[in-house]
Amino acid sequence: MTETATIPPVKHLPDAQTVTEVKHWTDRLFSFRVTRPQTLRFRSGEFVMIGLMGDNDKPLLRAYSIASPSWDEELEFYSIKVPDGPLTSKLQHIAVGDEIILRPKPVGTLVIDALLPGKRVWFLATGTGIAPFASLMRDPEVYEKFDEVVMMHTCRTAAELEYGRELVEGLKNDELIGEMVEGKLKYYPTTTREESPFMGRITDNLASGKVFSDLGIAPMDAEHDRAMVCGSLAFNKDVMAVLEGFGLREGANSEPREYVVEKAFVGDGI
Ligand code: FAD
Ligand code: A2P
Repeated sequence: MTETATIPPVKHLPDAQTVTEVKHWTDRLFSFRVTRPQTLRFRSGEFVMIGLMGDNDKPLLRAYSIASPSWDEELEFYSIKVPDGPLTSKLQHIAVGDEIILRPKPVGTLVIDALLPGKRVWFLATGTGIAPFASLMRDPEVYEKFDEVVMMHTCRTAAELEYGRELVEGLKNDELIGEMVEGKLKYYPTTTREESPFMGRITDNLASGKVFSDLGIAPMDAEHDRAMVCGSLAFNKDVMAVLEGFGLREGANSEPREYVVEKAFVGDGI
C-alpha cells in the first residue's frame, strides 16, 4: 500500500481521459473523477472498462461502474485498493492530471429499463457495490418513475460507508434534484463488524422485517416493489433468495421483471 508507483503515460491512446479529482476514503477505498469523452452516452447504473497501461505496453483494463449520473460533465468512479491487484495496486496512486484509459462502451443490467414499472425501488449494495447506485440516486428519472427509493448499503465498518453517506447528505442540497429527492429517498446504512446506529446484514434486515419497521414503511411486495442488487457473489446469491421469498423475479434488459442483479467484482471463490 505504501509502494510508490509511477503511472505510465497513456497520451498516445485514443481512449485516454484526464484525472480531475481523487479522494481517499480509507486505506482500502478511494474515488476519482475523470474527463468525459464528448461522445459517451450511458444509462445510469451501467459500467465501462477502465485501466492503465500494463507491462508490455498493453492496456490493463477492469470493469468499473460509472458512479456519476448520466447528466454529469465528468465521470466518477469508486474503487477498491487490492494490495496485490494488477490494476488497483497502481490505480490507487493516480493524481490530478494523470491519464487513465476508458473504453467508451457502457453496458450492464442495473438500469431502470430492466425493471417493470413499480411504486418503490430498493438499491441493495455491499462495499463498492454502491457505485452504480451513486449514479442512479443522482438521476432524476429514478424519482420520476418511483414514489419511494430505499438505499440499503452494508459494510463491515462505518468508515467504509462514508462515501455513500456523504453523497446522500449532499443530495438534499443539490440544485438539480434536491427537491425531487426530498421525502422520497430513504437511506439505510448498516455495519456488521463495528457498532453503529443500524447494524446487520441486508439479507437479515429484509428477512426479519427490521428495515421496514426502522424506516416505518410497508413490507416488500411483488406488485409494488422493484429491486437492484450489487455486491459479492455470495451476497447477490443470498439476497436473491430473500427477494424471491417476497415474490420478486429476476429480470434483464431484454425481459424486465421485478429485480436485477450485477456482480460488484468477481473472484470470491463462489
Ligand atoms: P483483480 O485481479 O481484478 O481482483 C483481485 C481480487 O480482489 C478479486 O479476486 C477479489 O477477491 C478482490 N476484489 C476485486 N474487486 C473488488 C471490489 N470492488 N471489492 C472487494 N474486493 C474486490 N471494482 C471497484 O472497485 N469499483 C467498481 O465500481 C467496480 N465495478 C465493477 C463492475 C463489474 C460488472 C465487475 C465485474 C467488476 C467491478 N469491479 C469494480 C471490480 C474491478 O473490475 C476489479 O476487479 C478491481 O478494480 C480490482 O482490480 P485488480 O486488477 O486490482 O485486481
Ligand atoms: P459480514 O461482516 O457479516 O460478513 P466483505 O467486506 O466481506 O465483502 O463484506 C461486505 C459486507 O457484506 C459485510 O458487511 C458483510 O457482512 C456483508 N456480507 C458478506 N457476505 C454476505 C452475504 N452472503 N449475505 C449478506 N451480507 C453479506
